[in-house]
Amino acid sequence: VHPLETERLTLRRLQSDDAPFIVELLNSPTWLEFIGDRGIRTTDDAQGYIERAHVNYALHGFSLYLVALRDGTRVGLCGPIRREGLNDVDLGFALLPTFAGRGYALEAARRVVEHARVDLKLGRVAGITVPENARSIRLLEALGMRREGSVRLSPDDVELNYYAMAL
Ligand SMILES: CC(C)(COP(=O)(O)OP(=O)(O)OC[C@H]1O[C@@H](n2cnc3c(N)ncnc32)[C@H](O)[C@@H]1OP(=O)(O)O)[C@@H](O)C(=O)NCCC(=O)NCCS
Repeated sequence: VHPLETERLTLRRLQSDDAPFIVELLNSPTWLEFIGDRGIRTTDDAQGYIERAHVNYALHGFSLYLVALRDGTRVGLCGPIRREGLNDVDLGFALLPTFAGRGYALEAARRVVEHARVDLKLGRVAGITVPENARSIRLLEALGMRREGSVRLSPDDVELNYYAMAL
């Protein structure tokens, strides 16, 4: 089933030469504002991040995928995530700010929802976001998710809006 294709995009597993892109994305202003600081500063840090994705590919069969244009240009990450303390698999997505505002995130997320339903045979999928992240909320609603409440990923963490839908 890999890579996943859409009209304009390719979604594939992360590989080690994605490390410089991961450093750039995880330190971009919108990632830092809406997702938070993952402390990935160097390509070595990014290699660790990529290795953790591979642990999850092996363990669950999925994790965040690299989103590229059909010509290979890296634009973001999108994929299903299995998290400790969350019943549903949730959708992760982020674009480099340069590539926002072109519908890429929604196009990638729609493909991941289809992947979750058809290939992964999940019955539900969720989305979690800080309440201030209007663009993310708009995307989750455009996918067909509805707000089901709030959630904290850990007791001292911020409260997140919890969106979900049946597949
Ligand atoms: C959340 C995030 C991925 C959304 O990106 P985005 O590009 O705004 O989302 P979409 O792909 O849905 O694009 C929608 C925009 O593209 C525009 N657009 C342009 N061409 C389009 C096309 N062919 N198809 C669809 N929309 C198109 C839409 O009009 C809309 O812009 P507008 O709101 O100004 O009208 C992005 O803001 C981001 O990376 N944020 C930081 C990380 C983050 O918050 N992740 C989510 C954590 S829960």
